[in-house]
Amino acid sequence: MVLNNSIPVVAIDGPSASGKGTVAQLVAKTLGFHYLDSGALYRLVALKALQTGVRPADEIKLVEIALNLDAVFKGEEIYLDNTRVTEKIRTEECGKMASQLASYPRVREALIVRQRSFRQSPGLVTDGRDMGSVIFPDAILKVFLTASPEARAERRYKQLIEKGINANIADLQRDILKRDERDSSRSVAPLRQNTDARLLDTTSLSILQAQNSVLEWYREYCANERV
Ligand code: C5P
Repeated sequence: MVLNNSIPVVAIDGPSASGKGTVAQLVAKTLGFHYLDSGALYRLVALKALQTGVRPADEIKLVEIALNLDAVFKGEEIYLDNTRVTEKIRTEECGKMASQLASYPRVREALIVRQRSFRQSPGLVTDGRDMGSVIFPDAILKVFLTASPEARAERRYKQLIEKGINANIADLQRDILKRDERDSSRSVAPLRQNTDARLLDTTSLSILQAQNSVLEWYREYCANERV
């Protein structure tokens, strides 16, 4: 696969509910870059599977869904088969199914070209689990953004309450740890900090501070390139 490395990519990987999506979106906005939420693609495959009664064990059907996914990203809205599913893919049910099907190498492969097609001028900020390691190995900046499980559960709790959805912090923390375990222990593209990724622990950082750290690293890279 030929990679178009003239278009810069900032890859932000990390565990569930770490805030990487929010930070990535803000960084993309500040830089005027495109944004790809790669987790949304796995969640869309999960939603389609749930809608059509495909079980998590049915790898062949899941690959088919991933290859033929009719998904459109329009600004902050996400469409599946011409229907708006922006909030629908955020349920714990979809997240769990996404994490299960993401362990199949062929499902991951089926989504590679689609993910790389988001690399468009003037640049891309993307978040996920394997953006820096597999999808965009030539990203100019790779960040592993994380936070303690307690902080992540609390953030997810606040998000849900704000949306008027009932939640329980202990349950959320248990789900987060379960998802971490599944995402970290799979054989393909496991969740981990790669040696070329910079660690950003946001446990005691605000969104703004986290965003500024990434922007500072990006500017450092640009300054070094000019030398
Ligand atoms: O990031 P988010 O929680 O929306 O992702 C949902 C699931 O999709 C994750 O738990 C993970 O298993 C999977 N995923 C992945 N690789 C990515 C993005 C997400 O395996 N690049």
